[in-house]
Amino acid sequence: MAVRPGRDGPLIPTGAPPRHVALIMDGNGRWAKARGLPRALGHRAGVNALKRTVEGAADLGLEWMTVFGFSTENWRRPPSEVTELMRLLKLYVETDLGRLERDGVRVHVIGRRAGLAPDILEVIDRAERRTAHNSRFHLQVAFNYGGRADLADSARRLATAVAEGRLDPGLINEAMLGAGLSTAEGPEPDLIVRTSGEQRISNFLLWEAAYAEFVFQDVLWPDYGPEHLAAALHEFSMRERRYGASEVHDVLAAG
Ligand code: FPP
Repeated sequence: MAVRPGRDGPLIPTGAPPRHVALIMDGNGRWAKARGLPRALGHRAGVNALKRTVEGAADLGLEWMTVFGFSTENWRRPPSEVTELMRLLKLYVETDLGRLERDGVRVHVIGRRAGLAPDILEVIDRAERRTAHNSRFHLQVAFNYGGRADLADSARRLATAVAEGRLDPGLINEAMLGAGLSTAEGPEPDLIVRTSGEQRISNFLLWEAAYAEFVFQDVLWPDYGPEHLAAALHEFSMRERRYGASEVHDVLAAG
């Protein structure tokens, strides 16, 4: 069955499996601490968890996955940890790009490029370029990303268009603001998962999360893998999504 929220809304299949899952990969530090290891080793183990999870995601029927690799707030961490997280993006791309390319994965990196070092920009550019022809699965890495910063950037673009006389401010609508976000190319997330037991959005996909379901899993990110993702998808399958309508039949009546 499909429902149409509002007269002109898109058709949305109810009970459909999610196309897009976004992951807040939390708990690397606690995983390391529990083992008496430096935090850096927790982040390294986190890269392996990311590889395992991406490998299993397409087989679970997903088309898009967005992961929170580095937030605009993570600059507040000690410089040594910031350097380690930057290094890990490079490590991930250098050790996994060939496999991602062969597996039909297209890599997208969202977030502000300003402030990133030239070697990081090169790695991002290489990952996007080498996988640009792929379409089986989309891996979107949020790096130097913040939901508020992304909204501010979109608003600034609209304001510039108004100031230059190219846009009537009375015509600005939700679609225009959404189209200016760095996530505009893909579908909105159906499901947002956060690991480690914390229950916060932490400035991730603020606009895009409008109708997402949330699942919070009590597993530290370095221990995560496809079996945990499958459990989150199962939890999602029990949810009823109404997109603001009181009942699914109200949504149908509105169409
Ligand atoms: C949160 O754990 C995790 C991060 C801030 C970084 C996530 C990064 C990875 C999983 C590996 C790198 C992957 C890419 C693509 C760069 P935390 O350190 O906040 O853990 P804690 O809350 O237990 O301290």
